[in-house]
Amino acid sequence: MNLQRTEIRAVWHDPAALLGQTLRVDGWVKSARDSGRVGFIDLNDGSCFTSLQVLLAADDLPAYSDLVKLGPGSALSVVGRLEPSPGGGQPCELRAETVKIYAASPADYPLQKKRHGLDFLRALPHLRARTNVFAAVFRIRSLLALAIHRFMGERGFVCVHTPVITTSDSEGAGEMFRVTTLDLARPPLDGTGEVDFGADFFGREASLTVSGQLEAEALVHAFGKVYTFGPTFRAENSNTARHAAEFWMLEPEIAFAALGDAMDLAEDLVKFLARDLLAQAGPELAFLDRFAAKGLIGRLEALERTEFARATYTEAVRLLTGAAFRCPARWGADLQTEHERYLTEKIFAGPVFVTDYPREIKAFYMRANDDGRTVAAMDLLVPGIGELIGGSQREERVDLLRARLAELGMAEENYAWYLDLRRFGGVPHAGFGLGFERAVMLMTGTANIRDVLPFPRTAGSAGARREG
Ligand code: 4AD
Ligand code: MG
Repeated sequence: MNLQRTEIRAVWHDPAALLGQTLRVDGWVKSARDSGRVGFIDLNDGSCFTSLQVLLAADDLPAYSDLVKLGPGSALSVVGRLEPSPGGGQPCELRAETVKIYAASPADYPLQKKRHGLDFLRALPHLRARTNVFAAVFRIRSLLALAIHRFMGERGFVCVHTPVITTSDSEGAGEMFRVTTLDLARPPLDGTGEVDFGADFFGREASLTVSGQLEAEALVHAFGKVYTFGPTFRAENSNTARHAAEFWMLEPEIAFAALGDAMDLAEDLVKFLARDLLAQAGPELAFLDRFAAKGLIGRLEALERTEFARATYTEAVRLLTGAAFRCPARWGADLQTEHERYLTEKIFAGPVFVTDYPREIKAFYMRANDDGRTVAAMDLLVPGIGELIGGSQREERVDLLRARLAELGMAEENYAWYLDLRRFGGVPHAGFGLGFERAVMLMTGTANIRDVLPFPRTAGSAGARREG
């Protein structure tokens, strides 16, 4: 008989409906134990966080003594009856009638049944998703990605795919990875001895994008509300727990909108994500709250409830003045992580939007405020992380934008298309970028960005040796 496989999530979805039936469940051994004439295997098939207990009875199974010795990570196909479980902890268990072994784990399987440190597991990116902590974090990552699409879709945003390869530095920060097919040992040179990028694949210099914003701005002038959600790349040499070289960003863009509209959308989004997770990720959150991030569920409930504070940069600097920092806050300088965390953790004790930053420390496209010194920018700071979101109202006045490019020494011909957006039906518009990994860190209570990316790429590290 070739029995169809039943996923464990179907068992937990409605145990009563399947009780008494003969099922085939395929999965991996989390742990096995032998109590003499009976043994137990916790089997997980990845379809949900919670494993299914398999009961092995020596009287039923000729290979009993081998089966109870199976190591964690072994892969099995079990056929048996779903029965009420006499032991506490689970409503039902699968009483094995036949067990087929796909693969028995050898003794050197690195994930034995004990708690491993995150540092140890970071060296095993190809295996660590099999541990409870990473199974919880990466499934929450998936739920958050799907929730983002749902939120934006429900609000009528058009999902657009902006390019990964680009020829413009949208943030103007010079932190781009070059994309080239030139032979680095012998690049073609032009008349002046410089590398001739005209001979390169795209006929000019190209890089990996740092943000899809500029292209999203083009598309928002057709659709009114758009978002792009995809990988972005930054060659920032900051080796911190919150920076990755490859990370994902959600970037909504709204036409006929001002800075406040972008903040309202950002606040609604973050609360929606917390609410959605509380509703959908019960077992994962309960596990993390208990073993990895104490108090996580309470923090998510508070996040969903509280109104986000709003303060201007100038007020923020005033609030920070006098507090002891390694680097004191000073009007005109960027807020350091220690400042951001002090604001959100100590002063506001919750999320806070800081708005209206000095124009000198922000990107060229941000809309000039009437005071002549600041721009209509916002950063959303959250406890434990610092900056989660960065956004702004965009400069829609073509003369001011052109003047700003010139002031910054940026070649206008590279931004001709971007200026066209203002010349042809340009309207006030605003948007923001949400760092997806930072959102996952916030919602899982994870301290290091390397532990929310399945295969993290950070300065000095593009994958473990054995990752493949
Ligand atoms: O503040 P940023 O640089 O803003 C932009 O790129 C705008 N173009 C977004 C927009 O308005 N459409 O980046 C946005 C967010 C940050 O707030 C942060 O959460 C995240 O992206 N981020 C990073 N996350 C991980 N690693 C890095 N190296 C990051 N750099 C930025
Ligand atoms: Mg920023």
